[in-house]
Amino acid sequence: MEKFLIKGPTSKGVRGSLECSGAKNSALPLMASSILFDGSVILKNIPFVNDVKTMSALLTALGSKVETFEKKKIIKITNKSKHKLIVEYKLISTMRAGVLAMGALLGKYNKCSTAMSGGCSLGDRGINFHLDGFKKLNCKYNLRNGYINIIAKNGIKGNIFKFPKVSVTGTSNLIMASVLANGTTVILKNVAREPEVIDLIKFLKSGGAQINFIGKRTIKINGVKKLKGCTHEVIGDRIEAFSYLCTAAITKGKIKIDKINPKYLHTELQVLKKIGCNLKIKNSSIEIDVKKKLKPTKIITGPFPKFATDNMPPLMAVLTKADGKSEIHETIFSNRFQAASELKRMGASINIKRNKATIIGQDKLYGAECISSDLRTTFSIILGAIAASGISKVARVYHGFRGYYNLDKKLKKIGIDIKKVS
Ligand code: EPU
Repeated sequence: MEKFLIKGPTSKGVRGSLECSGAKNSALPLMASSILFDGSVILKNIPFVNDVKTMSALLTALGSKVETFEKKKIIKITNKSKHKLIVEYKLISTMRAGVLAMGALLGKYNKCSTAMSGGCSLGDRGINFHLDGFKKLNCKYNLRNGYINIIAKNGIKGNIFKFPKVSVTGTSNLIMASVLANGTTVILKNVAREPEVIDLIKFLKSGGAQINFIGKRTIKINGVKKLKGCTHEVIGDRIEAFSYLCTAAITKGKIKIDKINPKYLHTELQVLKKIGCNLKIKNSSIEIDVKKKLKPTKIITGPFPKFATDNMPPLMAVLTKADGKSEIHETIFSNRFQAASELKRMGASINIKRNKATIIGQDKLYGAECISSDLRTTFSIILGAIAASGISKVARVYHGFRGYYNLDKKLKKIGIDIKKVS
């Protein structure tokens, strides 16, 4: 298994510029939703990370023709014949987004059997909201041998549904299941407004779907007969962008991130400013310049536009070097502080009590052997390692390759001493 060897500290700070890749959490639902279209869809600015490759394999196994052009960052997906309606375990055991095939297959064929999906183990990650939603749309389901079998014998019928709380893939799944339904669906409460969900809506609308926000967290979907093929450009990855901004925050560096809409990071950028980072924000780029020791802060994660839970592990690493006591309150997942035990190996002071972390900034961290346990934890550990003195060995970095495109290459480009070894 591949490991990273990182030599720290990056004493003069990271330097240079990086182009933000397309958002993984946008590309995956867009790809899954291709099942709903007649003809071909072309998706531009695709990040060819491992989850995207898994989603390509999933769609191919279901019968889509998937053509990839990695250098051009393009995927073309063509639906020629009827898809298979079974999503096997081996295709989604490593990827939570596999659950998105459900909404698309139901939307198109009123039926599917899907293995329970995997992905980052961030605590209990049910799909009860998705299933309750499908039930409202006239579906019945059962769970047998690890597969969820769902059917709408008389077709998907529009209805009114309320999410008990905001769910990102839940919202995407319900939208996909409803776009070709008979009648109108209203998701009355707790619709996710993450930029990636808005990107999915935009894509489906380009194909002819009728989806409109009729309240802040309420949408109305009028079922249409079919969606026609179209071309769409995936938005920039706000989580990747923030992760790299953190490399400058923790090393007192100066870098520019291009191809990112700063509006997707409004809350996070306010936090970076508050702790003492200088930011130059333009229409599609963010430049960060850090000269002084950072100040501590308090943050609370939440659904967009609040501070993203995915951006919390990188910020936690940054705060291990701030001047004083910081507090993080995680409200989305029950097990999202897995980077803490690894950062503590480097000498960080982090105390976790249930969903709250207290961090006392330290002057020095020391390189250590660490194990990554999920995607964002990988980046958090890398941040610790680039600020620490000496060599850190980071195992199980395959988690990082699921969602960060060209991870080690991009880190090298901004001056980090990193080697991938087996
Ligand atoms: N929840 C339920 N039941 C459900 C659905 C959700 O209890 O049926 C709970 C979850 O356990 C969690 C909360 O609701 O406590 C929100 O979960 P959500 O459904 O929004 O998460 P998700 O859709 O599974 C997506 C991203 C995650 C990101 C979260 C939160 C994708 C593929 N995944 O997950 O991304 O953390 O939204 O923003 O879009 C990552 O990229 O590292 C990642 C984990």
